[in-house]
Formats: sequence, structure tokens, C-alpha cells
Amino acid sequence: MNTYQIAVIVGSLRKDSLNRQLATAIAKLAPAEFTFKQVQIGDLPLYNQDDDANQAESVKRLKAEITAAQGLLFVTPEYNRSMPGVLKNAIDHASRPYGQNVWAGKPAGVIGASIGSIGTALAQQHLRNVLAYLDVPVMGQPEAFVHAREGLFDEQGNIGPASQPFVQNWLDQYVAWVKKHVA
Ligand SMILES: Cc1cc2nc3c(=O)[nH]c(=O)nc-3n(C[C@H](O)[C@H](O)[C@H](O)COP(=O)(O)O)c2cc1C
Repeated sequence: MNTYQIAVIVGSLRKDSLNRQLATAIAKLAPAEFTFKQVQIGDLPLYNQDDDANQAESVKRLKAEITAAQGLLFVTPEYNRSMPGVLKNAIDHASRPYGQNVWAGKPAGVIGASIGSIGTALAQQHLRNVLAYLDVPVMGQPEAFVHAREGLFDEQGNIGPASQPFVQNWLDQYVAWVKKHVA
């Protein structure tokens, strides 16, 4: 049986992040051959091109974790109608030095939760632009803009019954997307 290691990049550093909870809950819906690892991005320095020849240990760790993964899962909030700076910072780090972009070719899914009524649509669209440039094949459909309301998670941290079928379908399509690109 093929196994698939997925690097999960959560765009929020907040302790009680809804998006981190969503990332954790999604992992529980996946088939046994998929394992999900949330990569740390909160300890990365601010990207500075001067450091390209001497990347920080945290940057090397991030790049190694992305390199080892067969797929990527971005779970992000929207900040001021775009992706959070911490997420863009992580993406920039692992795209450099020039010619050593470790994101390239890794099949990816993008999902996000927001308390706002249009979800994370604009953040996801901006993220998709960046990932397209970095040569990341991102699943186009289905899209998932999760509106975080009461009951999104149950007491065990699973997706609540109202949203479960929608998220499960999204994940099933994501699993197929990864398998198609890794095969
Ligand atoms: C700086 C900042 C900007 C925000 N901008 C948006 C926004 O543009 N659209 C939106 O839907 N929510 C916005 N929010 C609200 C977030 O959706 C909400 O705080 C969410 O819980 C953040 O995700 P997290 O729980 O994973 O940290 C913003 C929050 C912050 C702190």
C-alpha cells in the first residue's frame, strides 16, 4: 500500500485557532494511508534575501519537511482580504534560494475557516496565485470556504454533523487529487 505524508501549513499562530482545529479535524477524516503533519511556521525569521546563502535552522527544517511530504494542505484564515503575513513568509522562505523552491510539483489543497460571511475566499484566491507561480498543482474543485459558526466542531474536536458531509467530500476529492499526482 502506498503511503502519503501530507505537510499541513496552518496560516494562524493563534493558540485557539479555528483553522488549526479545522486542520486537526480534517486529518481524522482521512484514509489510513494518509498521515498529516502540521509544520511549524511561527519560529521562522522574517524573510531576508541576504540570508539565502545561510538559512536559519528553522527554515532548513521547514524545507526538509516540505521536501519529505508527498502533498500539501494549506488551512488558512483571511487577514484583511488576503493571506496572513506569517503564511506568506513561510512560503517565501521555502521558495528560496532561487532555483531551490521546495514547493514545486507537490499536489496541494487549500481550505480555510472564517467567522466572516464570505469565508476565506479572497485569502484563498491570493494564495492560489502565489502557488501557481511556485508550480504547485492546487486542486481547483471543490472549493471550501468554511463559515465558522456554533457547532462547526463537536466536543471531541471532530467536524460537527452539519458540516461533516461537506468537509468529507472535500477531503475525498483532495485524497484523489494527491494520489493522481503522486502516482
Ligand atoms: C488582522 C486580522 C484581519 C482579519 N481580516 C479578516 C478578513 O479579511 N476576512 C475575514 O473573513 N475575517 C478576517 N478576520 C477575522 C478572522 O477570520 C478570525 O479572527 C479567525 O478566527 C482567524 O482565524 P484563526 O481562528 O484560525 O486564527 C481578521 C482577523 C484579524 C486578526
